[in-house]
Amino acid sequence: MAIPVVLFGCGTVGRALAREALSLGDEIRFLAVLDSSGGVVDPSGIPAGRLREILSFKEKGEGLGATGLTWEEALEAVCALLREGRGVVVDATASEGTVGFLLEALEQGWGVVLANKRPLVGPWEDYRRLTASGRLRYEATVGAGLPVIAVLRSLLATGDAVYRIRGILSGTLGFLLHRVEEGIPFSQAVREAMARGYTEPHPAEDLSGKDVARKALILARTLGLPLELREVAVEPLCPPDPGEMPIEEFLKTLRLMDAGMRRRVELAGKKGKVLRYLAEVSPEGTRVGLMQVEWESPLARARGPENVVVLETRRFREWPLVISGPGGPRAPPPGFSPISSN
Ligand SMILES: NC(=O)c1ccc[n+]([C@@H]2O[C@H](COP(=O)([O-])OP(=O)(O)OC[C@H]3O[C@@H](n4cnc5c(N)ncnc54)[C@H](OP(=O)(O)O)[C@@H]3O)[C@@H](O)[C@H]2O)c1
Repeated sequence: MAIPVVLFGCGTVGRALAREALSLGDEIRFLAVLDSSGGVVDPSGIPAGRLREILSFKEKGEGLGATGLTWEEALEAVCALLREGRGVVVDATASEGTVGFLLEALEQGWGVVLANKRPLVGPWEDYRRLTASGRLRYEATVGAGLPVIAVLRSLLATGDAVYRIRGILSGTLGFLLHRVEEGIPFSQAVREAMARGYTEPHPAEDLSGKDVARKALILARTLGLPLELREVAVEPLCPPDPGEMPIEEFLKTLRLMDAGMRRRVELAGKKGKVLRYLAEVSPEGTRVGLMQVEWESPLARARGPENVVVLETRRFREWPLVISGPGGPRAPPPGFSPISSN
């Protein structure tokens, strides 16, 4: 039977999900798709042709309010759906304002899947309420789709104890450090990352370290640590509070960091180590920033935009458990044929 889905957000992630669902045939039935301007709601399921139309409409930069209901109308229709049936709500927005709605969906017996980190990094009490039912999944929020949360949960559920988590959780920052190691000035590496589409539209969003801090907090909270975001120590890779600084001006200020970054990379090299931008959850606290790691570490081997998570646990102490992969899903090579059945 098709899984009924209500999708909030029709940006990069929302559209990728809808396209994946279309490729699966009729396994997923979208009852509603909303963006920030409005939405399309069909209690019997949006037909595949209409869904494709919505996706190309969004790809042209249009808002769903122009082809469907206003946002308020769409939300009202979705609330009626929540009361009438069961299914899964997907939050693929980057909004801080979805918590109330997500709690309502869980209360009505729906499942909730998040790509959006923000609902999980507000007050601890919100996190606790969101996760209490066991019907919330948030694998996509950390590690670019690598199975990190599922593995952590499985370890905890089977009696293991976690001592330390260290991870490269930003493909963008991983790429930047790799380029600096290759001798490229930091500010130039940032321009290169922008040109390749690796950064957010304003690179300060990546360089501030705030997004990695959110991921670190999600990992810490998954372990049951009742931390708040302000308790995560963050070392930014840009001047503090770039605020609304125009991008070109911001990029010029980064030149001031070129010499310092080079020195830090060289200093690490002299000690036989490499510099990585890590998230760390340990008994000493949760922190995010530049850290030196041993050459032999799986964290040192990470290349370009790869994500790597190293779990040191009671079972995996001497040889920690390593989860690594590309910083985003990649299409299989031509001719690739899976051996699994689904
Ligand atoms: N991109 C990635 O590779 C990736 C990977 C893992 C997790 N994430 C997370 O996934 C989320 C989505 O990422 P993205 O790259 O798809 O972002 P995006 O392209 O900016 O898309 C965000 C979507 O959310 C919509 N939206 C905003 N507020 C809304 C609201 N109140 N109700 C309904 N829709 C709303 C936006 O509407 P408009 O179209 O009208 O602006 C847009 O369609 C983010 O939280 C991001 O951090 C992204």
